[in-house]
Amino acid sequence: LNSFGKIFRVNIFGESHGPSVGIVVDGCPAGIPLAAEDFFTDIERRKGGTQKGTTPRKEDDLPVFLSGVFNDKTTGAPLTIVFENKNTRSADYEKLRSFPRPGHADFVASQKFGGYEDYRGGGHFSGRLTVCLVAAGVVAKKILLMANPALSCVASILEVGGESDVELGVQKAIDAKDSIGGVVECVVKNLSLGVGEPFFDSVESVISHAVFAIPAIKGIEFGSGFAAAKMFGSQHNDALENKEGKTTTNFSGGVVGGISNGNDLVFRVVVKPTSSTPKEQQTLNIQTDTIETFSVKGRHDLCIALRVPVVLEAVTAFVLADLLMLEQQVARR
Ligand SMILES: Cc1cc2nc3c(=O)[nH]c(=O)nc-3n(C[C@H](O)[C@H](O)[C@H](O)COP(=O)(O)O)c2cc1C
Repeated sequence: LNSFGKIFRVNIFGESHGPSVGIVVDGCPAGIPLAAEDFFTDIERRKGGTQKGTTPRKEDDLPVFLSGVFNDKTTGAPLTIVFENKNTRSADYEKLRSFPRPGHADFVASQKFGGYEDYRGGGHFSGRLTVCLVAAGVVAKKILLMANPALSCVASILEVGGESDVELGVQKAIDAKDSIGGVVECVVKNLSLGVGEPFFDSVESVISHAVFAIPAIKGIEFGSGFAAAKMFGSQHNDALENKEGKTTTNFSGGVVGGISNGNDLVFRVVVKPTSSTPKEQQTLNIQTDTIETFSVKGRHDLCIALRVPVVLEAVTAFVLADLLMLEQQVARR
């Protein structure tokens, strides 16, 4: 449903054009310094509006603390943070009652929730909710640094539309008057050996679980990923170099047997091309039951991958914070 984690439990709520979106984090350790300014850098990285290929919708995204913070420190009680929705244009979405967007959640949401869902701006399925993931990530990154000040979690775009030159990839979509996808890689350095709870809460399982909550993610691979299928075992095996677990290569992506092995944790995700494309498509008008020509108007990201790195870092951070707390490497206070 809308909560994730065993000890550091992230709950997410809100809709794109409702009054606000937000999170409640239960199990957050007490005494972590937390102020609005701590969120600005990551929240700015997620915003659209400035970069070519992102939505013109711009929100100020100031975090409002409703509970769990007192005298600029977390209290140990549930941490509630909301972000108001101010820049909405709901009229853009009226047409979608007749034309559920191909590739978007409009049709399945309407079928599952009997037409009661808030469809404005994609409602609860909107990329807007990723501001909540980023906020949880800001808190989780602090917890990771408490566990190990040398730990870093950095995601970056590897390619857009098959081009390693991001500008070129975005231009491809602009020229085609269409949308485009991409690949984003996340690297976690200095994660201690021994994190991960096999069988079902292996590092790969829990990261994948959280990563697929990010809208528009269609695939994930760790280390060598799908390329491993074409390798010999002798090539793929990461040989041990020392007793700390350092290996000569890192085809495993830093996880063996579901447990972190002391090398960099490396994984890549596939971000699909935005379903809301200006390009004309043939699709069903569900009011008239006829196939008609349709194209999406309104404000959309041409390339969602451009906004994903900070979101990917955030979910990775809250997964690892939870695993470290399970491992008792971080105390509740
Ligand atoms: C940061 C971000 C921004 C997004 N912006 C848009 C958008 O402008 N238009 C759109 O159609 N989908 C956008 N999406 C993706 C949809 O929310 C998503 O495709 C939809 O909910 C269907 O879910 P699925 O693609 O995971 O199956 C965005 C996703 C993210 C992570």
